[in-house]
Amino acid sequence: MLSDLLKQDPSLAIRKPTVEDGPSIYDLVKSSKPLDVNSRYLYLLQCSHFAKTCAVAESDGSVQAFISAYVLPDQPETLFVWQLAVDKLLRGQGIAGKLISHLLQRPHLAKTRFIEATVNPSNNASRNLFKSLALKHNCEINESMLFEAKLFDVDAHEAEILLRVGPIQS
Ligand SMILES: CC(C)(COP(=O)(O)OP(=O)(O)OC[C@H]1O[C@@H](n2cnc3c(N)ncnc32)[C@H](O)[C@@H]1OP(=O)(O)O)[C@@H](O)C(=O)NCCC(=O)NCCS
Repeated sequence: MLSDLLKQDPSLAIRKPTVEDGPSIYDLVKSSKPLDVNSRYLYLLQCSHFAKTCAVAESDGSVQAFISAYVLPDQPETLFVWQLAVDKLLRGQGIAGKLISHLLQRPHLAKTRFIEATVNPSNNASRNLFKSLALKHNCEINESMLFEAKLFDVDAHEAEILLRVGPIQS
């Protein structure tokens, strides 16, 4: 899928992150509520140890979107999307969908059959993103409770509902 943005701005490129992207990723996540902001160190680990399952979209050398993910240790066919953020000005143009498709096209992820992610109950954009992914791949999307709100021990944190999309055909 070629987004409107790509038509307007062919310089948008999706690639593996490097440690130099760490600070920009931190800033992007910080401005992408309701995402939890992790430590700068955590993003450096994702840009190094987990780079093969993470990606950034950049334009003119600056990071506009980021996806972090990992293969579940006991389920090699399941890719868990940890965080996904698109710059506010660029949302609604298919960039998040393209980041997920990009990861699925990496040869070492070819055996992925399920995508999992958690969403807050009030996050319609995120929920629609994964519904759209299920539609695109003509597969089911199942929901279950992963972490109840009380586990976060802070008033403002919503529950994290697990979405499981699949089975995805290669
Ligand atoms: C969620 C987020 C990553 C989506 O990025 P995006 O690039 O705008 O998403 P896309 O353009 O690829 O849209 C994917 C689908 O979601 C739908 N969608 C996107 N934003 C939406 C919104 N605000 N409300 C309702 N639906 C929305 C789109 O219509 C599209 O569905 P379609 O394919 O049927 O048209 C982005 O809104 C964001 O960064 N939000 C803040 C951080 C966050 O909530 N991250 C998700 C954690 S899992």
